[in-house]
Amino acid sequence: MNLKDLYINYFISKGHKQIPSAPVVPENDPSVLFNTAGMQPLIPYLMGKPHPYGTRLCDYQKCIRTNDLESIGDKTHHTFFEMLGNWSLGDYFKEESIGFSFEFLTKVLNIPINKLAVTVFMGDEDIPRDDVSANAWMKLGIPKERIAFLGKEDNFWIAGESGPCGGDTEIFYFRSNDEIPEKFDPTDDRWVEIWNNVFMEFFKDTDGKVTVLPKKNVDTGMGLERVVAVLEGVDDNYKASIWSNIIKTIEEISNKKYLGNEKSMRIIADHIRTAVFISADKSGIKPSNTDQGYILRRLIRRAIRHAKKLDIDISSDWEELIALAIISQYEEYYEEIKENKDIVLEVLRNEKNKFNRTLEKGLKEFEKIISNLDNNKLNKDLAFKLYDTYGFPIELTVELASEKGIIVDTEGFKEKFKAHQELSRAGSTGKFKGGLATNGDMEVKYHTTTHLLNAALKQVINKDVHQKGSNITSERMRFDFSCDHKLSEEEIRKAEELVNIWIKEEIPVTMTEMNKEEAIASGAECMFIEKYPDIVSVYTIGNVSKELCGGPHVSNTKELGTFKIVKEEASSAGVRRIKAVLN
Ligand code: SER
Repeated sequence: MNLKDLYINYFISKGHKQIPSAPVVPENDPSVLFNTAGMQPLIPYLMGKPHPYGTRLCDYQKCIRTNDLESIGDKTHHTFFEMLGNWSLGDYFKEESIGFSFEFLTKVLNIPINKLAVTVFMGDEDIPRDDVSANAWMKLGIPKERIAFLGKEDNFWIAGESGPCGGDTEIFYFRSNDEIPEKFDPTDDRWVEIWNNVFMEFFKDTDGKVTVLPKKNVDTGMGLERVVAVLEGVDDNYKASIWSNIIKTIEEISNKKYLGNEKSMRIIADHIRTAVFISADKSGIKPSNTDQGYILRRLIRRAIRHAKKLDIDISSDWEELIALAIISQYEEYYEEIKENKDIVLEVLRNEKNKFNRTLEKGLKEFEKIISNLDNNKLNKDLAFKLYDTYGFPIELTVELASEKGIIVDTEGFKEKFKAHQELSRAGSTGKFKGGLATNGDMEVKYHTTTHLLNAALKQVINKDVHQKGSNITSERMRFDFSCDHKLSEEEIRKAEELVNIWIKEEIPVTMTEMNKEEAIASGAECMFIEKYPDIVSVYTIGNVSKELCGGPHVSNTKELGTFKIVKEEASSAGVRRIKAVLN
């Protein structure tokens, strides 16, 4: 039986009710993007609200932490992890909680007492030293030398700046074949923390004021991936049983061994697993350029880049095979993983297809940029270009650069990124002066659609098709273009289909200002070059379309609905006209 089952069964046998894992995207807490700890969904109950399941609870909770994405690739970091937890809401307190932990570790997991040590809160000017916990440990057989009293930095727990909080006792396991020193030294890293029991008695508000909670609670948390690795005696979390099937799948797909390719394999394994959990979540997150969607996008894109590094054919269904290995491992525990399997696979596939279109070119551009640098710094404009034109998330650029000993101006990038987001939002709400008489929402949508149709016709007919004019009302669009023949049914259907595919792909529409020559040289489409000022705005829709244009535009193709061509006719010699609507 695995640790998750052993844990839940043990606490159920001690009168606890198992509560389901809350979604990874918090339902009632807009202050965080993801659920980061087991106790987070329980905050209202820790603060006194009665829980429908009673006063003794246990669970395994999905958690996501993406604050240090760059660390993923080492032996111990994960963006997704499961936290085992048990809670007392005004029910048992210190002694009983410590008793449960001790019994579970020594009787269920059969860990020898000699391999355990604990830390206990030493107290401060307001709160006395926690002798109750220390005595409870000693009574169970933990020797005095294996108990360390530590201060607030180590033995006081609060999620962030405010909320329910209290002193804690942490349990350590000796992970080494060395002789175990009699005296426990918490700074000796052969001792690894495996479990944290927090005695939540206080509430700290946002002004820093501390009050006593209506009830005394216990909140414990055990990080599953770490504990499994420790108990299995591996020195690399990714060598533990949790990962073996996923890593094996990556080895097979890449035809390479884990040994020697650890970093890329860890990143692929970790990032795809997290992407599976985010896209299976009931919140329905899809890759995008904001909030959780942007995290999802970055995870998938970084995994793709590392797949490429391992010489995996990134246009094959590699990501699906990995996702399926992950799904089969977790579906028994998480309903949504089973139910939303197809959605997960589709999200991964779409994002892969989208990024694959620009990755190769982006990597070439990156090489070019690097060879033209006259120092080891990559400035914000170049980093932004890689983002804007090739869809490179900043940490991808940072990672590529650091492999060449180059430093990226990430702060500068972030400022530019923010300004750009505001600009495209302004664009989509019609604050730019464009060529449109009125800038209602529908007109703006039709305007973006003309860019898509222009691009579609180039693909379906030939690249010499150019826009000759357009006319937009809130009801429909008219689009005139150069073409020497009446379009066949098939050509019309294909053009329509392409536009709808791009709408479905939810491609962001971005705007960059550049000088006119540069814009033309970059291959941007433009109707009447002489009409434009020296500095022009170029609207880019992924790698589908790039046009000089005054805007305004929607910020993402997903806003467009469904595109339908209703008529195709002659306009003048060598010019055809399409009438189309959005539904
Ligand atoms: N809240 C504590 C932690 O996250 C115990 O669950 O470590």
